[in-house]
Amino acid sequence: AAAVTTLSRDEVITGHPSNNVTDAIYSKIGVNLHLQPTHPIGIIKQAIYDYFDKQHPDTFKKFDNLAPIVSAHANFDEVLVPADHVSRSPNDTYYVDPDTVLRCHTSAHQAELLRGGHSAFLCTGDVYRRDSIDATHYPVFHQMEGVRVFSAADWAGQEPTAYAETELKRTLEGLAQHLFGKVEMRWIDAYFPFTEPSFELEIFFKGEWLEVLGCGVMQQQILDKNLEAGHKAWAFGLGLERLAMVLFDIPDIRLFWTADQRFLKQFRAGDLSARFKSYSKFPPCYKDVAFWVSDAFTENNLCEVVRGIAGDLAEEVKLIDTFTHPKTGRTSNCYRIAYRSMDRSLTDDEINALQEEVRSTIASKLGVELR
Ligand code: PHE
Repeated sequence: AAAVTTLSRDEVITGHPSNNVTDAIYSKIGVNLHLQPTHPIGIIKQAIYDYFDKQHPDTFKKFDNLAPIVSAHANFDEVLVPADHVSRSPNDTYYVDPDTVLRCHTSAHQAELLRGGHSAFLCTGDVYRRDSIDATHYPVFHQMEGVRVFSAADWAGQEPTAYAETELKRTLEGLAQHLFGKVEMRWIDAYFPFTEPSFELEIFFKGEWLEVLGCGVMQQQILDKNLEAGHKAWAFGLGLERLAMVLFDIPDIRLFWTADQRFLKQFRAGDLSARFKSYSKFPPCYKDVAFWVSDAFTENNLCEVVRGIAGDLAEEVKLIDTFTHPKTGRTSNCYRIAYRSMDRSLTDDEINALQEEVRSTIASKLGVELR
């Protein structure tokens, strides 16, 4: 893959009818929070590197500069994502054109790196997903993919899949300990097209179980297509924001993107002991919008409109009421939008202007009828 640095707007927002990348999304490409050693995302990345280097010196090769624009083939087909899987939908994924996407996971690089002859690697980068708006979801976040390939000498007569599973779980439990010290965790059976068996690791955080990574034993088909026969592998993909929010007590995912020194100053390279201290709590402002939905309406499209207008001032978009009219059969949704700045107080005029623009844009672009 090409280096990240020089993707022009025209290469990303192509004008192809199936292109759904917005300027708000384009502006995130190349920011590379994971390459900033004093940023919480860079600190977590390095802490994970340190763990793997300590466990297995000179074993895991690091990749953190692969361009986030990849072929749909690499993002989906090469990791066996079925043709009808929801993640392929333009409601979930950003398409540059029908054959090219903003990667929605770092698993997009698995096959290419296996073909490159790498048998143990960590691949970190920004990933892009159309999604809802709340404190833990943002359309750009950072993942690290880990892969380790074994051969017969490693499993030494044991059942290879069981061997890989045990090694995987031991490795990731050790990682969680390295990052969090004593923390409650649990394994959940999961499904991913590219692993079998598959698991999620959850961590108990602020009274809730929070999913921090997905993993499993790599589908044999992926190995056999990209490597000579006789191998077994595990793979994991973890969300760096999730880990950083738990570790550093960061309450809102938008904070990772702030330029406010009151945030950035609280973290230092190599220091996992920082706990975020809230420097101000400006009040949120809630605005409701109700409309009759059309068949084409989706919540992700609504959230894209809200982000396009309000940017990081949009804190949450929440469905608070829905009903279907008994006679007409039409459905009405009422969403509550929370506006709040992390850095300053907002004026009524400012919020009202944003809300007016949101209202007129959803009426004109989403084909819904305002009430
Ligand atoms: N790609 C998966 C995701 O984004 C995570 C994953 C990676 C799961 C590797 C299993 C193996 O959710």
